[in-house]
Amino acid sequence: MTLETPSIRTILPEGRRGETAPEARAGAGATTSAGAAAPAAHAPGAVEPRLVTRDFNLWYGTHQALKQVSLEVPDHSVTAIIGPSGCGKSTLLRSFNRMNDLIPGVRVRGSVRVSGLEVYAPSTDVVELRRRIGMVFQRPNPFPKSIFDNVAFGLRLLGLGNRTELEARVEDSLRHAALWDEVRDRLGKSALALSGGQQQRLCIARALAVEPEVLLMDEPASALDPTATARIEELVLDLKERYTIVMVTHNMQQAARVSDRTAFMLVGELIELGETRQLFTRPRQKLTEDYITGRFG
Ligand SMILES: Nc1ncnc2c1ncn2[C@@H]1O[C@H](COP(=O)(O)OP(=O)(O)O)[C@@H](O)[C@H]1O
Ligand SMILES: [Mg+2]
Repeated sequence: MTLETPSIRTILPEGRRGETAPEARAGAGATTSAGAAAPAAHAPGAVEPRLVTRDFNLWYGTHQALKQVSLEVPDHSVTAIIGPSGCGKSTLLRSFNRMNDLIPGVRVRGSVRVSGLEVYAPSTDVVELRRRIGMVFQRPNPFPKSIFDNVAFGLRLLGLGNRTELEARVEDSLRHAALWDEVRDRLGKSALALSGGQQQRLCIARALAVEPEVLLMDEPASALDPTATARIEELVLDLKERYTIVMVTHNMQQAARVSDRTAFMLVGELIELGETRQLFTRPRQKLTEDYITGRFG
């Protein structure tokens, strides 16, 4: 992975101070975000939204997968990312905690900030970044270890060895992931014996154990049955009290059920980001309207 622009882009250009509640969206009449006004800067001293991207671009070799993406994710909210297959949803999600670094030939340009930290700055500690920004994938991927050891995994990596403290943190995480009551009697048993829905909640507990600020979820329920899906959706609604959540979903009903804000992407561009109800009932962009009414996708 190479960083195309070494400089850290300032988020506070002169003359844009004091503006609030910016939305990433295309300008009137435009069909893509390429001409969108950049999100407003944040006044000195004001709290920056938890996640901010400015003119963010990503290439896989010569293929540009993200184009000038500018967006903001406020704290304690659920943002859904929707759009047709291949539009860059997973790539954008992985950009937030630099999971794309692991893919050879990836190049980025632009800015991603988490709690004011410049994610792509050379000085950024990627291990600490991924502790702060946890991730849950489409297929539950528990380690072939016990339930306890799965949840304790990240804590042990961080050097937490005290058994009593570990047990307390594991219990806490399992409770927050709404799994404790189902597994409390079998913490020493293999995680692989759990159902798919339980495994996914275990992966959520594993992510929560290291006390992240942001939880990224890439189609977390798409491999699950309707009952398990409903539990994940309920859990997401609970978790936003404590965390900031960005969730990719191909399911527009799911986005409408669980998210506060929805981002619609198309071939690498952020077409529209707005309050979920507004985006689904009064989209600003014709492309969004065409997509949500099923004209393509
Ligand atoms: N590891 C990769 N190497 C090369 N190209 C990739 C890789 N991952 C994704 N892409 C390409 O980037 C684009 C966006 O992919 P992705 O982010 O997975 O989309 P989505 O999650 O919306 O389906 C697609 O054209 C896809 O083929
Ligand atoms: Mg994807």
